[in-house]
Amino acid sequence: MKVLVVGGGGREHALVWKLADSPMVDRLFCAPGNAGIAQQAECVDIAATDIPRLRRFARDNAIDLTVAGPEAPLVKGIVDAFKPAGLKVFGPTQQAAKIEGSKVFAKQLMERHGIPTAPFRVFNAPERAKSYLEMVGAPIVVKADGLAAGKAVIVCQALKEAYEAVDRIMIRKEFGDAGDQIIIESCLTGEEASIIAFTDGRTIAVLPSSQDHKPIHDGDKGPNTGGMGAYSPAPVITEELTAQIERKILVQTVHAMNREGKPYRGTLYAGIMVTDDGPQVLEFNCRLGDPELQPLIMRLKGDLMPILLGTVDGTLEDVDIDWDPRPALCVVMASGGYPAGYDKGFPIEGLEDVAKMEDVVVFHAGTALDDGRVVTNGGRVLGVTARGDSIQAAKDRAYEAAQKIHFENAYYRTDIGQKAIDRLAASESG
Ligand code: AMP
Ligand code: GLY
Repeated sequence: MKVLVVGGGGREHALVWKLADSPMVDRLFCAPGNAGIAQQAECVDIAATDIPRLRRFARDNAIDLTVAGPEAPLVKGIVDAFKPAGLKVFGPTQQAAKIEGSKVFAKQLMERHGIPTAPFRVFNAPERAKSYLEMVGAPIVVKADGLAAGKAVIVCQALKEAYEAVDRIMIRKEFGDAGDQIIIESCLTGEEASIIAFTDGRTIAVLPSSQDHKPIHDGDKGPNTGGMGAYSPAPVITEELTAQIERKILVQTVHAMNREGKPYRGTLYAGIMVTDDGPQVLEFNCRLGDPELQPLIMRLKGDLMPILLGTVDGTLEDVDIDWDPRPALCVVMASGGYPAGYDKGFPIEGLEDVAKMEDVVVFHAGTALDDGRVVTNGGRVLGVTARGDSIQAAKDRAYEAAQKIHFENAYYRTDIGQKAIDRLAASESG
């Protein structure tokens, strides 16, 4: 089969890395890809959101399956646009992708169907939003309705910050149309985890748990990023919690989407806060997590293609999915300055050394080829990912690899996985 992966980040490298091994895949393309992806797939210079050109490419090259990595093409309707041409895409339709594309839609869906999430109100005028804030006080969370690469969620410890958040989103329009409506919701406390599932609308295949590290600095300090590292499994998600999340959140959501005439097929990603009142949904995403997929893909045994095809074709029930019990952990190496401004184009050294290490894979995110050399080309540059017999062992190995890689102004957190290691140590001692 011919497969096209859409996107060019770490998640798409993880998809390409796995698909390159599939006996079912004869030719693998990626649009636009990156320097790492170029080693395993034929990169095509088309932006991930240029749906007309992607469709032409898929038609002209008789692509059997297109896998949309990021949310933007899904929310823009890539599945719907490809369908009349008889082209298969892994992912939800535009209507179903609203679960990520509109936070107002997602919150109201949860409210209508009793899916646990923080209490909230929706506003489309800043004055009303501020009067409400004055009434409820801080801490409080202000979120823009639309897509903003995770940046338009502002957790406010003081009322002043919350007013400022409303101004940024609704008056200064820092996130464009995404801020036409906002949500103000109660602040939840607890530990976060990502629960990701494949679903064809009938069967739900839940992947092992994982945990992202969103803030830029150690100890979860500083502004949020796209994710500075991840590991799987996440010990905070016990077996009992997994069962609860599956029953009360994932199954309910897939049913709710069916009942509301928006059948859901693809990846359903629930960002969960484990609170004293049980698991609550922070957000839904309509695609795989980045960087969560990097450790997850290293734990997936066997072929990814039957899972993707089963999801698209509605036959997921017949697909067996096996996971390596060994944990995996990904350390994101970023450009200094990210998530604000940073320079690009610095050569990356040490990749050949790390390629020799066992149980280590370096997934490329923001990289490019310049005269045959791999150079930095984005905020998140690499996802150095390792497997080990324990989270500690995976962590040690991932950091050993990261230390062999050099580029100017490289920055990474030094505590990826520490929360899990501490939790495991506490449960052993007590
Ligand atoms: P989201 O994109 O909605 O997942 O939000 C990004 C991040 O903001 C989450 O990973 C949480 O760390 C934080 N967040 C979102 N909603 C809440 C909430 N209701 N209470 C506390 N933190 C939140
Ligand atoms: N790692 C967070 C996300 O993919 O949204």
